[in-house]
Amino acid sequence: MRTRRAALSAIASAACLALTLTACGQDSEGGSEENAGSSEGGTIGIAMPTKSSERWIADGDNVKKDLESKGYETKLVYGEDDPDQQVSQIENLITQGVKALIVAAIDNKSLNNVLQQAADADIPVIAYDRLILGTENVDYYASFDNEKVGQLQATYIVDQLGLEDGKGPFNIELFAGSNDDNNTKYFFNGAMSVLQPYIDSGDLVVKSGQTDMTQATTLRWDGATAQKRMEDILTSTYGSARVDAVLSPYDGISIGILAALKSDGYGSADKPLPVVTGQDAELASVKSIIADEQSETVYKDTRELAKVASNMVDAVLNDKEPEVNDTKTYDNGSKVVPAYLLEPVNVDKSNYEKVLVDGGYYTADQLK
Ligand code: GAL
Repeated sequence: MRTRRAALSAIASAACLALTLTACGQDSEGGSEENAGSSEGGTIGIAMPTKSSERWIADGDNVKKDLESKGYETKLVYGEDDPDQQVSQIENLITQGVKALIVAAIDNKSLNNVLQQAADADIPVIAYDRLILGTENVDYYASFDNEKVGQLQATYIVDQLGLEDGKGPFNIELFAGSNDDNNTKYFFNGAMSVLQPYIDSGDLVVKSGQTDMTQATTLRWDGATAQKRMEDILTSTYGSARVDAVLSPYDGISIGILAALKSDGYGSADKPLPVVTGQDAELASVKSIIADEQSETVYKDTRELAKVASNMVDAVLNDKEPEVNDTKTYDNGSKVVPAYLLEPVNVDKSNYEKVLVDGGYYTADQLK
């Protein structure tokens, strides 16, 4: 009997052969439209990283809702940012006989053993938002164009400072995400591809000297950790100098950075806040943008991501080929994982109403 995994590998090879320019295009907004039906039914396990950030709560709820609308049952678990807890949660899901797994990893390298158990039980695995590394046993990847996220943040800084108009030099500090999240390097490298030429020309100065990603990471994306690092940098490096921009990869980190800046006296007329970026359009950060504190966030519509992942599961379980639009970028060390990447969008005070309120992500009331 041909196992599901053998069938999947045949599908993946066919997908690579059949990829046309259209299939590779980045223009789809809604993810895969082809719904493979849900003849197989059964329960799908969804493992999310933490409830401490509202985005993952929305992701979990949206995936659950989409799968249930296709006739599946779901078991949704949150690992509370503890890699061991996530491993045992996935083990339990396998024991409970789930038909497929959707996993947003806490630590991208800690899942190899448990995903071997999934493979042995013939359970397909979709990596959700964050790629899982070092294992053959991840079948598809649903995410956003992660490099573009960093490019959007950095381009925003360049525009706001007026670097292209010859203004400067300006002081900037750099923050990166968690070192155990594969997205971190894509965000950081994407941003640096835009910022590095200005750093090289001296128009941007990283006064702390901490330009290497390893000096800038923030374990588990923790806001308090970022706040402490920003405080240390301000105390050790800035004196009477002013920080003009802070590259932040995620809203929770931005909130920590802003707290450090405010307790250092930033946010007044004679000491305005620097340009501070973010990601995820979390409610607190959108409110902060409206209040002229955080400058921008990169919005990633979790409703669309949930749709892509649910459609992938549905296709795989019906021996159909999930829609992918990237078969080159996401090498996890064991294989290049076929991916569907959605487009991130820059949001600031000038367009939040159009994008977030008109787009139905938040109601106007939620943002009051
Ligand atoms: C990343 C994700 C970001 C942000 C961050 C912290 O993996 O791509 O959008 O949510 O985790 O949760």
